[in-house]
Amino acid sequence: MQPQTPDILRLIASKLCPPNSRAAHVMVLTGAGISAESGLRTFRGSERDMFTLWKDFDPQTLATPEAFGRDPEMVSRWYDWRRLGCLAAEPNAGHLALARLERFITGNGGSFTLLTQNVDRLHQRAGSRNVVELHGSIIEWRCTRTGMLSTPPTTAFESFPPKSAAGALLRPNVVWFGEMLPEAALAAAADGLERVEVFFSIGTSSVVYPAAGFVHQANAAGAFTVEINAEDTPISRAVDRTIRGAAGTILPALLQQLGNP
Ligand code: OAD
Repeated sequence: MQPQTPDILRLIASKLCPPNSRAAHVMVLTGAGISAESGLRTFRGSERDMFTLWKDFDPQTLATPEAFGRDPEMVSRWYDWRRLGCLAAEPNAGHLALARLERFITGNGGSFTLLTQNVDRLHQRAGSRNVVELHGSIIEWRCTRTGMLSTPPTTAFESFPPKSAAGALLRPNVVWFGEMLPEAALAAAADGLERVEVFFSIGTSSVVYPAAGFVHQANAAGAFTVEINAEDTPISRAVDRTIRGAAGTILPALLQQLGNP
């Protein structure tokens, strides 16, 4: 932790729960970095270059509708491999701290919305309640004909590409490059960003839109904005405070400032 971090955490705690007042309207945006300490690979990031997914795999051949159309077997094998990794992973101290923060904020009259770009469901498994999945979930798969969602068993599919009960191809219920984000998720984000008072961007490289633009909307709404990331990102200069470090260390330290609720 940087030497100035405790002071910054004290300041953030005072914004989250000002003395003699209700807690704030809080929004948190998370990205792959918060799950890194659960052993899941991020997509980008120079510090962990050797371990990032887009270093080893090409998004254009794996994470687009065109790629799935060309080679559904390869794409579904890759997503099934990642699905099993997510199921095997456990929520880490960062996920658990956010779930506790939500209970503290809502219990003190504030509101809390967790917008995540992650498809791994670790926030929900950690106990977070108001989670908005901006990029869908890899744990659920969708029939390409009927749109029906299903949760495959916790073992690998028996054959590839997997088929739905209706006999059509199954695809992961994630958002691919070139696809629209779920309307309800965008609406929840837009709604919260109008009245947000404290906004966190945690473990995201802030290069994928629309999520990368949320911090600017939060600034425009007059919110106090904070970034927690292992390294600099394009939004580091746009926030009120930036904290360099691991989310799994910083977030529990923030809770300490709030009296360890
Ligand atoms: P990225 O992989 O782009 O960024 C992860 C960020 O987390 C980097 O900025 C790292 O520095 C930071 N980081 C790594 N470990 C950390 C830790 N322990 N604590 C805090 N920060 C840490 O992930 P996203 O921003 O989530 O979309 O990527 C956005 C989207 O791009 C993903 O949802 C995915 C991807 O392509 C699709 O597949 C459509």
